[in-house]
Amino acid sequence: MHELIEKRRSIRNFRTDKPVTKEQLSRMLEAAMQAPSACNSRPWEFIAVTKREILDEIARVHPYAAMCATAAAAIIVVAIPQTGRPVGYYPQDCAAATQNILLEAVSQGLGACWCGVYPRDERIASIRELFSISDPKIPFCVIAIGAPAESPDRKGIFDESRVRFVE
Ligand SMILES: Cc1cc2nc3c(=O)[nH]c(=O)nc-3n(C[C@H](O)[C@H](O)[C@H](O)COP(=O)(O)O)c2cc1C
Repeated sequence: MHELIEKRRSIRNFRTDKPVTKEQLSRMLEAAMQAPSACNSRPWEFIAVTKREILDEIARVHPYAAMCATAAAAIIVVAIPQTGRPVGYYPQDCAAATQNILLEAVSQGLGACWCGVYPRDERIASIRELFSISDPKIPFCVIAIGAPAESPDRKGIFDESRVRFVE
């Protein structure tokens, strides 16, 4: 598992000749729903997209998701705030589900990029409109997925000064 975590990087260039299958996406969605959530409220839904025109449209409406134009798939994580108990934890719950999707993608030899939507009003509005997501549901993020066409270096990221051991 540590190896997977170290291997994961945001991938923004994808091979356009390699599809992502429904089986692969289903495994990612299973991983998503294995995530912990406050009081096990699981305040989420998922939209899995492989339709080319819709992926292109995401790239057009989201200012930082241009990579969707080369991605073979995307998963939209949708938050359902009212089912989150206690109230207010749903962004953390959805973030945990998102991270599970990213790690499952790496374990399948794929690459992915988390593109933030919530809490930016303009991004929420455009993704909401594109997928007809009605209030009170909130599009939380877009995850672009595909076979990587780049392999960014792992930066030396561990910073001891950010850690305090209390023993
Ligand atoms: C909440 C959140 C929102 C992000 N939004 C975007 C985004 O809109 N577009 C993008 O290209 N990357 C986005 N990223 C990816 C970050 O830029 C990336 O994780 C960070 O630069 C570290 O690089 P790494 O993922 O390769 O370790 C987002 C990441 C998080 C956690």
